[in-house]
Amino acid sequence: MARFTLPRDIYHGKGALEALKSFEGKRAIICTGGGSMKRGGFLQKVEDYLKEAGMEIELFEGIEPDPSVETVMKGAEVMQKFQPDWIVAIGGGSPIDAAKAMWIKYEYPDTTFEDMCKVFGLPKLRTKAKFCAISSTSGTATEVTAFSIITDYQKGIKYPIADFEITPDVAIVDPELAHTMPKKLVAHTGMDAMTHAIEAYVSTANCAYTDPLAIHAIEMIMNTLVKSYNEDMEARDAMHDAQCLAGMAFSNALLGIVHSMAHKTGAAFADLGAHIIHGAANAMYLPKVIAFNAKDPVAKQRYGVIADYMHLGGSNDDEKVKLLIDYLRKMNDDLNIPHSINHYGPDGLPAEQGFVPEDVFLERLHDIAANAILDACTGSNPRQPSQEEMEKLLKCCYYDTEVDF
Ligand SMILES: NC(=O)c1ccc[n+]([C@@H]2O[C@H](COP(=O)([O-])OP(=O)(O)OC[C@H]3O[C@@H](n4cnc5c(N)ncnc54)[C@H](O)[C@@H]3O)[C@@H](O)[C@H]2O)c1
Ligand SMILES: [Zn+2]
Repeated sequence: MARFTLPRDIYHGKGALEALKSFEGKRAIICTGGGSMKRGGFLQKVEDYLKEAGMEIELFEGIEPDPSVETVMKGAEVMQKFQPDWIVAIGGGSPIDAAKAMWIKYEYPDTTFEDMCKVFGLPKLRTKAKFCAISSTSGTATEVTAFSIITDYQKGIKYPIADFEITPDVAIVDPELAHTMPKKLVAHTGMDAMTHAIEAYVSTANCAYTDPLAIHAIEMIMNTLVKSYNEDMEARDAMHDAQCLAGMAFSNALLGIVHSMAHKTGAAFADLGAHIIHGAANAMYLPKVIAFNAKDPVAKQRYGVIADYMHLGGSNDDEKVKLLIDYLRKMNDDLNIPHSINHYGPDGLPAEQGFVPEDVFLERLHDIAANAILDACTGSNPRQPSQEEMEKLLKCCYYDTEVDF
């Protein structure tokens, strides 16, 4: 038996934010990030609409990018005091993910972060509050997914919490929120979405329910991401929908080792003063992982189908896989994303000298590879890597060398 779960309601299109006016409840807590939603005037709109719906409001602001366990615990305490019956999270993946984890702790105060990380092991939520997610970036699709990514900074590791219990009740996909994104954010979050769609399509958990969403998302992202990056606002609107379709696919078909590697490298060098931003990590690793996975005959054939949908040409699956890899690398060039960690600058842009020195990378390689294999996303990857293979793959991602194993 398989399960396909999405939010009960997805409001989409310009002005979708107004759906908040029809919410029923007494108290809503609004969770958000560092200020982009306030500056854009969206936070005020959310407050106004919820007040119009007759609700008392509490604000929890300042959720940092790549949110920490500590922030989750702090937010849950505020919720305990305020006792909301709606949690409304607005912003990028970070504040929405943090709010999802706060929700678990609010409903079950004795739950530890370790308990939360037991894959598909959460108790029933919604005994105290329902959850609405409003995304302002076009990538994570956390507004429709069963995932939340929280970083344990003591360990330097990102942990996915995965359970359909945290699939939001309501998602609001209003493209106006994405208009204020700076170019780099468009690029990184857009390639995150592309990775979601491609990993979902070749995942071992793919099915007839998820395939159409994944393949259509790939086509839309191919046609709109670079245009959106170059400030075409119609394309940006389409990208906001495309990333959500990709999210509907991967929340149910799961992901693969591009994400395992991104989760385990993202904060692994945080002590050097920078992160490898989630979407940029995916963009760099995706072509390498496709080459690795294509040794599996079923995955190879499915990459061929993707290449066909993208009209890339090629007369057999080997050629199609190569054309797909070339196309994705060209997208990285067009979006000013580096191809490898050794050229990943501290600001996420291509640099002659990346911020991760070779000796530090090699010193940490064994542990990063071991952690990536244990990541929740590895199980649904079409090819299971050994420790040695994962280390080799990560080296290819560091040096931008060819994957021939
Ligand atoms: N839950 C999931 O299913 C899922 C999937 C993929 C990634 N993630 C996680 O999501 C996080 C990344 O989320 P993200 O890429 O959306 O970025 P983010 O939420 O970390 O935001 C990045 C920065 O962009 C700013 N920002 C957000 N929206 C903006 C806008 N419209 N205009 C201007 N600035 C804006 C934020 O203030 C922040 O400074 C990572 O922790 C990643 O691991 C979660
Ligand atoms: Zn992702």
